[in-house]
Amino acid sequence: MPPDSAVAKTWKGLLPPPAKPPPSAINFMRTLLAICIFLVFSLCYLSMFPTVRLRPNFSDSGHNLINVSQERRRFTAGDDQTNISHILFGIGGSSDTWGRRRHYCELWWKPNVTRGYVWLDEKPSDSGKGWPETSPPYRISEDTTRFKYTNWIGSRSAIRIARIVKESFELGLENVRWFVMGDDDTVFFTENLVNVLNRYDHNQMYYIGAVSESVDQALVHSYTMGYGGAGFAISYPLAAELVTLLDGCIDRYAAAYGSDHKIGSCMSEIGVPLTKELGFHQMDIRGSAFGLLSAHPLAPLVSMHHLDYVQPLFPGRNRVNSMKKLFQAYGRDPSRTLQQSFFYDPTRNWSVSIAWGYNVQLYPFPMTARDLRTPLQTFLTWSWNRKAFTFNTRSTSMKPCLRPIIFYLDRVEKTENGDTMTTYTRPRLDIRRRCDRDNFAAAHSVVGFNVTAPVLDPLVFHKAPRRQCAELLNGPDEAAGLVHIRLRGCKPRESVTLP
Ligand SMILES: *[C@@H]1O[C@H](CO)[C@@H](O)[C@H](O)[C@H]1NC(C)=O
Ligand SMILES: *[C@@H]1O[C@H](CO)[C@@H](O)[C@H](O)[C@H]1NC(C)=O
Ligand SMILES: *[C@@H]1O[C@H](CO)[C@@H](O)[C@H](O)[C@H]1NC(C)=O
Ligand SMILES: *[C@@H]1O[C@H](CO)[C@@H](O)[C@H](O)[C@H]1NC(C)=O
Repeated sequence: MPPDSAVAKTWKGLLPPPAKPPPSAINFMRTLLAICIFLVFSLCYLSMFPTVRLRPNFSDSGHNLINVSQERRRFTAGDDQTNISHILFGIGGSSDTWGRRRHYCELWWKPNVTRGYVWLDEKPSDSGKGWPETSPPYRISEDTTRFKYTNWIGSRSAIRIARIVKESFELGLENVRWFVMGDDDTVFFTENLVNVLNRYDHNQMYYIGAVSESVDQALVHSYTMGYGGAGFAISYPLAAELVTLLDGCIDRYAAAYGSDHKIGSCMSEIGVPLTKELGFHQMDIRGSAFGLLSAHPLAPLVSMHHLDYVQPLFPGRNRVNSMKKLFQAYGRDPSRTLQQSFFYDPTRNWSVSIAWGYNVQLYPFPMTARDLRTPLQTFLTWSWNRKAFTFNTRSTSMKPCLRPIIFYLDRVEKTENGDTMTTYTRPRLDIRRRCDRDNFAAAHSVVGFNVTAPVLDPLVFHKAPRRQCAELLNGPDEAAGLVHIRLRGCKPRESVTLP
């Protein structure tokens, strides 16, 4: 958890980007005045309602009480499979922030493969180098001055971002089945996104995404909208309905803070609820995302967001390099990325949790499966109600004898038979105080884990979900402190039950 100064710094970073001043002097004065009023009111507002928090971006949220699995329609027509070219991405950006944020987008954007645009408020200032080839092509959003925006603390850019889906639709591009919206700091895992969308019939009206992790965000914004930073997908027929209403909705929901809330509100007029998918991550958290990402639900990892507001995922690497490390494993086995497996070593009383492609946690004491699958609370929300999450967490202990020993992804290799071997090692600088009990002494002699696993068939996520099992392979490396584990589907009557 960050010290208070770090929290304060995070807070400062969370104010929404200020609107760009218009060119004329009169407008400039008006903007100045507006900013002053904005600041005064935000201060009053924030002190009156301490739990209200601003989201740094333009996203909105939503989510519905309808049982998702009942709503889900698996789409199986053989050669009519949805692929990456059927998706048109609409990334909400601004010419001011693109330079700083494009690194996240360029992690997943594949020039000439992924289709779509980053939508900017104005032409990017020409640094002489031109627009980067590795970035999505850009478009300039239409003027939005005619629309109403009455949210006291938000930014008018929400209107522009909300209209991206309409402006994308109106380009009239061929063979678009899904419009996928995201922020400029959203990282998509496109193979998994395609796999998830393939479960739904694109000829029907679907609105697919996820809600914030933070109860306060959901209370202030919505429990029934797809949060924009997590990204959401709108099927073509639904987009066709939405564009006829959207401009009216923007005025009708002028008080909604974010673009995603405006879209979510408009969806209620159409009557299409959000279909929640567990792999989209808005990540309205600060601190370390370790606990959240080490206990991923049984669903393909689709997106991550707000990576600038959490610590780098890997020790000793910066944020972007950490994501590159994760993408190394992802590139080898997209479906398995972050999927969790557990096992017990009854002879040593070890409980082990593997988040594939990210880390291995070794607890040299018994831990139930229920506890292992519950995210360790290594993070807080952004508001004063710091621990109110929309899911259960388990608390982290300051006592070294209650903490796991953590091994992080080191190498990803293809084995001779086509399986993948991932290796996990201790961070070189492990400055934490060590537990000196006997059970930890043996565990501390472990230098790493080798985990072999066949490439996970994406279609397992079209079936009833079940976590994969892990088994310990005793090998010649054991004396040298290497633990070898194999991941595989569970056998009948195999469970993770404490011996
Ligand atoms: C996606 O499917 C369409 C057929 O619907 C096909 O024409 C296109 O080549 C496919 N694209 C990729 C990248 O596989
Ligand atoms: C994308 O395609 C265009 C035209 O087909 C080509 O000129 C360009 O080099 C390609 N870019 C990449 C990164 O492959
Ligand atoms: C495992 O833990 C149990 C209960 O905590 C203890 O009784 C037992 O001696 C331990 N076994 C080993 C091998 O450490
Ligand atoms: C485990 O991984 C290390 C590093 O990649 C490798 O040198 C070693 O041979 C592996 N052990 C086994 C049993 O495959």
